[in-house]
Amino acid sequence: MCVLESLYVERCFVLVRLHGPSRCILTGNTRWIEWQFAFGTSANNCFTLIHAVKNLKIIPQSDPSSGQFSVTIKRVERVPTLWSLRILKFSPRSLLFFLLFGALLPVLDREASAQETAATAGPMSVPEDKLPRDLSIDAVPIGFSSFPASPATNPTTVEKVRLGRRLFFDPILSRDGTVACATCHRPDQGFASPEPVAVGINGRVGKRNAPSIFNRGYGHQFLWDGSAGTLEDQALTPISNPNEFGSDIETVLKSLRGDEAYRAEFALAFGEADTAQEVISADRLAKAIASFERTLVYGNTQVDRFRASEYGALSREARQGMWIFESAGGCWKCHGGETFSDELFHNTGVDFNNPNRDEGRYEVTENQEDRFKFKTPSLRGVSLTAPYMHDGSVKTLKEVVEFYNRGGAPDDANLDEDIQPLNLSEKEVGFLVEFLKALSQEQ
Ligand code: HEC
Ligand code: HEC
Repeated sequence: MCVLESLYVERCFVLVRLHGPSRCILTGNTRWIEWQFAFGTSANNCFTLIHAVKNLKIIPQSDPSSGQFSVTIKRVERVPTLWSLRILKFSPRSLLFFLLFGALLPVLDREASAQETAATAGPMSVPEDKLPRDLSIDAVPIGFSSFPASPATNPTTVEKVRLGRRLFFDPILSRDGTVACATCHRPDQGFASPEPVAVGINGRVGKRNAPSIFNRGYGHQFLWDGSAGTLEDQALTPISNPNEFGSDIETVLKSLRGDEAYRAEFALAFGEADTAQEVISADRLAKAIASFERTLVYGNTQVDRFRASEYGALSREARQGMWIFESAGGCWKCHGGETFSDELFHNTGVDFNNPNRDEGRYEVTENQEDRFKFKTPSLRGVSLTAPYMHDGSVKTLKEVVEFYNRGGAPDDANLDEDIQPLNLSEKEVGFLVEFLKALSQEQ
């Protein structure tokens, strides 16, 4: 008998994982396509990825007597014309069609131009604000089902975003006026830092890599160890951090209150008040910055367009990488969902050999099982944000994939059980890298 181990559905593909004796048969049909695949002639784990199905209704059925397992997939929406072909059986003829069609696809592919960038340390200055003049507060990028929700206490408005944006690029928040949020979260580096660990005031270094803040509006826990619960909570922490702005909130508020333009902008965004203290308060400062951060959405990538049925959007290599990501690579187990993060904490074995290893999530919860766990980062825009991992110890995407291919740090007793050696060939490693790059191609 075949047992359904998992059925993973995302937008336009389904991953079916079956577990059974030597052979499972999976049958299914959509309105246009009927197919039957036989799996696992030797291994007893079988899975398939059914691409290009959209808005599905899935009805799994298992028939213990025949040992067959079937999945009915009903397509709710019309498919693009290219796929509106009727293939009645998985016959040699339809196989030929798939082969021919597969050979045609690369012609439609767009060229991947993302260059994998290694860390380039340079003098850290405050970058200029070159973002689009108007930042949307509601446009939903392809790949997401909604714009980041704002809390009831801080609805996103154009005025707050404008103010938050100015603050984000303004070194007024630091003690000596040299460091801004954008110094470490650099727009042209995917809002991350090219330094392995962040460099703040007077060149002081912290212990962790400054991560991207793309799509953080969709997040539920913030910082590598999840010690901040909301973007508002997080926004003021750099001010007093001795390795970041090295200041204190009262000093910063005083400087802001001394600036007429800021006074007017705070009043416009949050309303007038009797005292300067009320107009420019810590609470309002955090809210404005968080509102700006919610606008930093990153979708419309080649992967998103492919999943939204634009089949020419993804190169053949990246498609193969996607297949590995969703199957044998096991990446989907943690990097799933619209942000490519489960927003949970795992120990992947990074920094295993360091005697002073960062304990990550454990520092927040003090639960033994949380030792060395870090929050799963989102992977959108990832080819812009090198170096990688909480300590910035991995320079390129290829090295990241090679790290996973080795099984992280196999000798680490605390390693997450989903981190296992993958035995991918060098070519397959390259495919995964192409997939990760395609997640960083906004179009
Ligand atoms: C000196 C460099 C530096 C500066 C300046 C800085 N950050 Fe960060 N930022 C970091 C580092 C390092 C982390 C990760 C720290 C950790 O997880 O312990 C981080 C994490 C974050 C996160 C969490 C991202 C996530 O994935 O959970 C947000 C949001 C953020 N910073 C926003 C800001 C804002 C807003 C400012 C300005 C008020 C700012 N940062 C200033 C270095 C910096
Ligand atoms: C068990 C959960 C888990 C699995 C499985 C997993 N990851 Fe990760 N991934 C994480 C965590 C947690 C981190 C951060 C680890 C750290 O910094 O200590 C991470 C970091 C990364 C990064 C670095 C991102 C950045 O901004 O620094 C990339 C790229 C990545 N993973 C890709 C993959 C790929 C590709 C696979 C499949 C081969 C994979 N991951 C499998 C949990 C996982």
